[in-house]
Formats: sequence, structure tokens, C-alpha cells
Amino acid sequence: MLYLKDLSYHPPATPSPILKTLNLELMPQQLGLVIGPSGSGKSTLLEILAGLAEQTSGSIFWRDQELTSEHLQQLGGLVFQFPERHFCGSTILEELRLGHPELGSERVNEALREVGLVNLPLNQAPQDLSGGQQRRLALAVQLIRQPNMLMLDEPTAGLDWSMRRQLVSLLAKLKSHWTLLIVTHDAGDLLEIADRCWSLKHGELQAIEPAALKKKVPQTQSVIPTKKVS
Ligand SMILES: Nc1ncnc2c1ncn2[C@@H]1O[C@H](COP(=O)(O)OP(=O)(O)OP(=O)(O)O)[C@@H](O)[C@H]1O
Ligand SMILES: [Mg+2]
Repeated sequence: MLYLKDLSYHPPATPSPILKTLNLELMPQQLGLVIGPSGSGKSTLLEILAGLAEQTSGSIFWRDQELTSEHLQQLGGLVFQFPERHFCGSTILEELRLGHPELGSERVNEALREVGLVNLPLNQAPQDLSGGQQRRLALAVQLIRQPNMLMLDEPTAGLDWSMRRQLVSLLAKLKSHWTLLIVTHDAGDLLEIADRCWSLKHGELQAIEPAALKKKVPQTQSVIPTKKVS
């Protein structure tokens, strides 16, 4: 379980704090969605939770263990906004093994299977994949490290309708193995797979009931399979 207690972030250069006494709880195998406008502090929050920046005050716990930035780097996998812009490997295999040359083909195949990218030649260049496949590869790059929590910054940005639906349905599936925290300015079809929701405005986090938001969003075709009535 991820637990934030009074987390604040106020770099010396800014007149007011970017994140103001945030409190949040996210259970394993839950998908948490933080919705906020541009500049509200979403990416900053993920950078802190991924151990790339350190909070000014407050604490971050996983179960009952308080976490340092080093712990957070181990525990979390962060998929940046437009992750395909950061690909460095010249092939899919190279991209997956960056920083982990020791990983065997079993782990590589497992990560690709998790994101539905099987049957692709491993020597294909990441740049030659479709936009949706590139997003899946970026997820696999994090999953291969087997983090406890997966964090995504605007995962559906720039995708067309059908790629977005495929990604939302993949995230719904990943939820059964990982804790997911997603930040976005536009909840859209991510709402239907969210277990917990918060709004972030001017660095202030407030819990919202996902069901209350769902009513405001126009109905789209559900990606969650409906249970058969026997
Ligand atoms: N290290 C820093 N020093 C000073 N200001 C910062 C720093 N990091 C972020 N900011 C400021 O903090 C605010 C929040 O930025 P952040 O990138 O987290 O917002 P965001 O919600 O992700 O926005 P967007 O939707 O546009 O990506 C912005 O006003 C930004 O300029
Ligand atoms: Mg951002």
C-alpha cells in the first residue's frame, strides 16, 4: 500500500509550495487517478514518488515502511509523458535491456507478453513501431524491472481513439498485478478503470468519488468485460 502523509514540496526558487500537504492512500492492485490542470503539480508529484526529487516535508510509506528516494527508485517505475521521445535503444531488445544487460530472454519475453507485444522481431527499431506499440514498449521497459508500483504521466496523450482504447484496456489488465498511479489533465476514458480519484489544483489534492465524475463524462464503449449472467 502506498501512503503519503502531509507531503509538501517547496523548492527555494518558487514563491509558494508546488505541492501542499498531500495525503493519499492507494491499495495494491488499485488504480489511482490524479486529475489536474496544467501546472497543478502532477509531474512533480510523480517525480517525487519515483525518487527523482525529494519532498521538502512529509513522508512516503509503502505498507509501514517509510521510503527514501533510493527506495522509491527501486519500488516505482515511471513512464514519462510521450515516453517514445526518450527511447535510446536502436532495437526493441536494446531498449528493454538498457541498464539491465543481465536480463535473460525469459524476462524480456515476459515483459513483452504483459503488454501484448508478442511476435514482434526483437531487432526492430522502436521508432518503427506504431504510436500505440511504442507506448506499450515504454510500459514494458518499466515492467521488466518488476517494480511494485507503476506510475504514468498522461499515458493517453497524443493517441488516437482506437489506440487510446487499447491502452486503457491494457492498463485495466495490468491493474491485476501492479499498483498503478496515473496523472492526467483529462481523465476521459481512464475514469472507468479508476478505483480512486483525486483532483490536484494549485498543489492541493482532494479526493473525489470516481462514480461522481463518471456521470459527467459522455458514455464510451466499455473496455471492462461484462460478467455473463448464467
Ligand atoms: N524544480 C522546480 N523549480 C521551480 N519550479 C518548478 C520546479 N518543478 C516544477 N515547477 C513548477 O511547478 C508547477 C507544477 O509543475 P508540473 O510540471 O508538476 O505541473 P503539471 O501538472 O505536470 O503540468 P502539465 O499538465 O503542464 O504537465 C509549475 O508551475 C512549474 O513551473
Ligand atoms: Mg506534467
